[in-house]
Amino acid sequence: MARPLPDVLPIRWPDSAPTPPAETGRALDRAAQVLADGGLVAIPTETVYGLAAIATDAHAVEKIFAAKGRPQTNPLIVHVADVAMARALAASWPATADRIASCRWPGPVTLVVPRGPQIPDVVTAGGDTVAVRCPAERLARLLIEKVGRPLAAPSANRSLAVSPTTAAHVLESLGNRIDLILDGGACQRGIESTVVDCTVDPPVILRPGPIGREELEHVLGRPLGGTSAAQTGGTARSPGQAARHYAPKTSLTIANRSADHVTTLLGEGRRVGWLSLHPDAPETRRLATERELIIVPMPADPAAYAARLYATLHALDKRELSAIVVDAPPDTDAWQAVRDRLTRASG
Ligand code: TXA
Ligand code: MG
Repeated sequence: MARPLPDVLPIRWPDSAPTPPAETGRALDRAAQVLADGGLVAIPTETVYGLAAIATDAHAVEKIFAAKGRPQTNPLIVHVADVAMARALAASWPATADRIASCRWPGPVTLVVPRGPQIPDVVTAGGDTVAVRCPAERLARLLIEKVGRPLAAPSANRSLAVSPTTAAHVLESLGNRIDLILDGGACQRGIESTVVDCTVDPPVILRPGPIGREELEHVLGRPLGGTSAAQTGGTARSPGQAARHYAPKTSLTIANRSADHVTTLLGEGRRVGWLSLHPDAPETRRLATERELIIVPMPADPAAYAARLYATLHALDKRELSAIVVDAPPDTDAWQAVRDRLTRASG
């Protein structure tokens, strides 16, 4: 028998309020109960929605892999309410991890540290390290506190699909495979956390994200380690960084001379979506009247661009296009994470 769709419970916490409204408190209590019973709950974080289970419950964590269709070789990030909870999960707590955590947590940076005995094999894919992150989203931290246990949570999408930045994206992707969705609105950052390997010295970025290399080097007061696995497309230390990832269903191309490329595709009779960084440029305006073309003006600021990227890809995937063309962003540190996600999406 098919399972029903999960309930989608709205949650909110206005900046001015000392505690969340009563209705939100009840939704979090229900989520905590589902988790305690070994269930799966999709939760908002500041980066993307996560699919959570109690990290110390191996059986519950196995359900995450099944719901996502994720290979068991790809380890999960464990979400904690504070630094103390993270330290308790680590066999040792490197000085570099301590420095980054004290300067940037709660926030969108994940630290890979030596794994302690509390974490089951299924979370780390059998490896001797564990990835920990304390999310900036207050409601996520409050839920972890209510549960009293760390939560393993990958992005709440089917494996290899674009990560969800709204509860509606989660419902579409995972629907009746999960038990509950908490709807905290659109994620502010919009792309996944930076992953930093702190088991090596100097630390190495395994996945670029909202906290950039220059910012981390400033925090540490010294350079990070050489070219990361993510940048070289390697998968050695971060198995999830396989080249094709975060991909929309529609084929996506990054183009330097995008107007020419779009013109060629239209000439072939194709329906095209174009993420444009230069909506007011003459060559963009010249194409604006094309019936088979959807132009999406994208922000010139990298953080604003990131916040909108996945929602744009989700929306274009529904428009029955045969191609998505993306203006290549600048090759600077500030654009590193967006460039990484676009490159993977173009697989
Ligand atoms: O922003 C985020 O990080 C979101 C939210 C939900 O927190 N989570 C997320 O999880 O993006 P996921 O599973 O989609 O990506 C986790 C990444 C993968 O590339 C995985 O291989 C890597 O982190 N990872 C997890 N544990 C690791 C470990 N012990 N060593 C190296 N890489 C690890
Ligand atoms: Mg993911």
